[in-house]
Amino acid sequence: MRFLDKLKTKNIQFGVIGLGYVGLPLAVEVAKVGISVTGIEVDKEKVRKVNEGHNYIGDVKDEDLKHVVEKGLLHATLDFSVIRDLDVVSICVPTPLNKLKDPDMSFITSALEKIVDHLHKDLVVILESTTYPGTTREYMLPKLEESNLKCGKDFYLAFSPERVDPGNPVYLTKNTPKVLGGVSPACTEHAQAVYEQIFETIVPVSSAEAAEMAKLLENTFRMINIGLVNELAIMCDRLGVDVWEVIDAAATKPFGFMKFYPGPGLGGHCIPIDPHYLSWKMKTLNYKTKFIDLAAEVNTAMPEYVVHTLIEGLNLHTKALRNSNILILGMAYKNDIDDLRESPAFDVFKLLEEKGATVSYHDPYCPKFSWNGDYVESLPLDKELLNSMDAVVITTAHRSVDYQFVVDHSKLVIDSRNATKGLKNTEGKVLRMGGGRTLDE
Ligand SMILES: NC(=O)c1ccc[n+]([C@@H]2O[C@H](COP(=O)([O-])OP(=O)(O)OC[C@H]3O[C@@H](n4cnc5c(N)ncnc54)[C@H](O)[C@@H]3O)[C@@H](O)[C@H]2O)c1
Repeated sequence: MRFLDKLKTKNIQFGVIGLGYVGLPLAVEVAKVGISVTGIEVDKEKVRKVNEGHNYIGDVKDEDLKHVVEKGLLHATLDFSVIRDLDVVSICVPTPLNKLKDPDMSFITSALEKIVDHLHKDLVVILESTTYPGTTREYMLPKLEESNLKCGKDFYLAFSPERVDPGNPVYLTKNTPKVLGGVSPACTEHAQAVYEQIFETIVPVSSAEAAEMAKLLENTFRMINIGLVNELAIMCDRLGVDVWEVIDAAATKPFGFMKFYPGPGLGGHCIPIDPHYLSWKMKTLNYKTKFIDLAAEVNTAMPEYVVHTLIEGLNLHTKALRNSNILILGMAYKNDIDDLRESPAFDVFKLLEEKGATVSYHDPYCPKFSWNGDYVESLPLDKELLNSMDAVVITTAHRSVDYQFVVDHSKLVIDSRNATKGLKNTEGKVLRMGGGRTLDE
C-alpha cells in the first residue's frame, strides 16, 4: 500500500528520535490519535522510563503517557534498526552551541547517519530541532541521498519547527499551529498529510528554508525585545522611574505594542541559543547580524546588573558583598518549571561566589544541581533561613513561593522579577531591579 493510502487508515509506523522536552510530548500526541509510535533514544534511563509508563517531562500528563504505553501505542528503544519498519521519522535531538558559540551539529549528524543506514522507500523524514536556514536542504539532503535514494520521489524530507512554550497551560503540542516546509512540493505534501493527523493547524510554507527562518524569526524577536526591556530597566533605574509600571501602562495600548519584561538574563534551550544559529549562518555569507549581537550584549550583561543592584542594596545597609550570606530564590530559567538549562541564575550564583559571598538557593522545582563537581541542594524556605541571610535575590518568580513571607522575614530583598510589587512591609528592604533604584517605600 502506498504511504498516503496507509495514512488514511492511520496504519503507519511513526518514529521520534530523541525523547526530551520536544520529542516525548510529540510521541505521546501522535500515539493519542491512534498511530503507533516508536521513540528512539540514546539515553537508557529514558527508554526504561517510557517503557514503564513513567513520565519525566512537565508538559506531558502522567496519565496520557501511561495510557498510550499500556495500549501498546508507544514504546521506546535504543535500537536504530527499527527505522527500517517506520513510515515517518521526526528528529528531535539537541542543537546546542559549541564553546565558540557556533552550531553544534553533532546530534543531528549522528541521528542522520543512523537514518541513512536504514533509509528505505517512502520514508518521510521531518526535522523538528531548531537550526540555521539551509540545514535541511544543504546539510541533510546530500547525506540522505548518499543512500542512492532520491528525495521527493523515493523518500521525503521536510522541516517543521517545534514551538512549544514549556509550562504554558493553553498552548500545548497539539493546538500550537505547526509551520512546515519541505525541500520540494512532494515533500511538503507528504509531511503535511502526516502532521494533519496529529496537529490542529498546519501552516505549510513554500520551502524548508522559510520554515527554518520562521522559527528563527520568532525566537530572535523575543530575544531582541527582551534585550530592549532589559536596557529600559537600566535606563529607568537611572531616571528614577519604575519600568514595570511603564510596561504595564504601555500595554494598555490595544494595538501595535506587545509586553516583554526585564529579568536577570536569558535562559532555556531556545532564546539564548537559536539567534546565534542565524548569526553563524549570516557570517558565512559575510553579513553581520547587528540587532542580534547588540541584544546578546545587553542580555548577557544582566546577571552583572543584578549583582550590581545587590551591591547597591547592601551598601544602603552599610554592608559589603564579601562574606555576606546570599540566598538565590529561583534557579529554573523561568517560573513554574524545573528546567535549569542556560538559566541566568547560575551566572548570578557564580558572580556572587567570585566576589566572596556565601551563596545558597531555594527552588521548589529544582531540588539540587551539580556545581564544580559537587551537588548544591535547595534549602527549605523558612524563617530561620531567611533570617540568617544578608540578602535574598529573586531570580525566578515561581508562583508557589509566598513572597510576602520572604519580605517579612528577610533583611534585604533584591527583586529582578517584580515579584514583590504591591507587597506590605517592603520599606527599606526591597530593591526592585528597574524599579527606579530606591528601596521600596
Ligand atoms: N525545549 C524546548 O522548549 C524547545 C522548544 C522548541 C524547540 N526546541 C528544539 O528542539 C530540539 C530538542 O530540544 P529538547 O529541549 O527536546 O532537548 P532535550 O535535551 O530535552 O532532548 C533531546 C533528546 O535527544 C536525545 N538524543 C541526543 N542525541 C541523540 C541521538 N543521536 N539519537 C537519539 N536520541 C538522541 C537526548 O538523549 C535527549 O533525550 C532542539 O533543537 C531545541 O532547540 C526545544
